[in-house]
Amino acid sequence: MYTTILTSLENGVFTITINRPDKLNALNASVFADLNTALDEIYSNAAIQSVIITGAGPKAFVAGADISEFNNLDKSGIMALSKAGQDTFFRIENAPKPIIACVNGFALGGGCELAMSCHFRVASENAKFGQPEVNLGLIPGYGGTQRLVQLIGKGRAMELLLTANMIDAVTAHQYGLVNHVVPADQLIGKAVEILSLIQTKAPIAVAQCIAAANAVFDETKDGYAVEVAGFGTSFDTADRVEGTTAFLEKRKAVFSGK
Ligand code: COA
Repeated sequence: MYTTILTSLENGVFTITINRPDKLNALNASVFADLNTALDEIYSNAAIQSVIITGAGPKAFVAGADISEFNNLDKSGIMALSKAGQDTFFRIENAPKPIIACVNGFALGGGCELAMSCHFRVASENAKFGQPEVNLGLIPGYGGTQRLVQLIGKGRAMELLLTANMIDAVTAHQYGLVNHVVPADQLIGKAVEILSLIQTKAPIAVAQCIAAANAVFDETKDGYAVEVAGFGTSFDTADRVEGTTAFLEKRKAVFSGK
């Protein structure tokens, strides 16, 4: 079914591994096609409760968009590529299930942008982040100029965008770009631990939290109104009845996702 990604589903956690290690998992058209098919599955398959995105091999998460595809395109073609990439990453950002990037090495250019489109990030100690597009006479095209500013603030983002400098995992942690830094052999385990905890919560409430937090950065939406609507949506569920009843009965809630 997939040619450039590996997938697995274990205990509700769906893992996507970008699998072009000889090209440091660079994002070409096939990877985007596979990612979109996987996103269809994530949105539609109730057995998928949460998601990890990582890269194959010990060296790279994703070293960027596949530069070898650029020179076949003209200006309108490259703008269409940018828009299509942004749309794929919006689908990740707006997914109603938690998606964690497990950054296992270089996350450069489109790789940093992919990681930033996930709901949050866990990094291995050897991870490196950067937006080196100005080295190529380009700028980030998959949302990087926007999400980097959102995540680490304008001054730090400007420096990374304009210098093309890479930062290591410890600096990324200090900047708030990643939530946790762990040894490489504990990376997936750390994400599974966090996702397993989230999977014990009410799924509709989790989805509404994602939508409301994302609304902060969407100028077409009033985030406070999204919160009110989400409060109502989550209130009107069997899981809210179960959650509040279990609290009053001093027992652990068991959620159904309804
Ligand atoms: N697009 C296409 N191919 C890429 C790539 C990318 N973004 N990043 C790495 N590769 C390929 C290399 O061309 C090389 O292929 P080859 O073996 O067929 O020559 C292979 O992956 C290994 O990369 P290499 O550069 O030899 O590894 P390195 O350890 O010397 O350097 C990096 C690692 C990440 C510093 C370097 O690969 C790099 O700078 N990549 C591009 C990063 C970038 O500019 N990304 C933004 C793109 S918009």
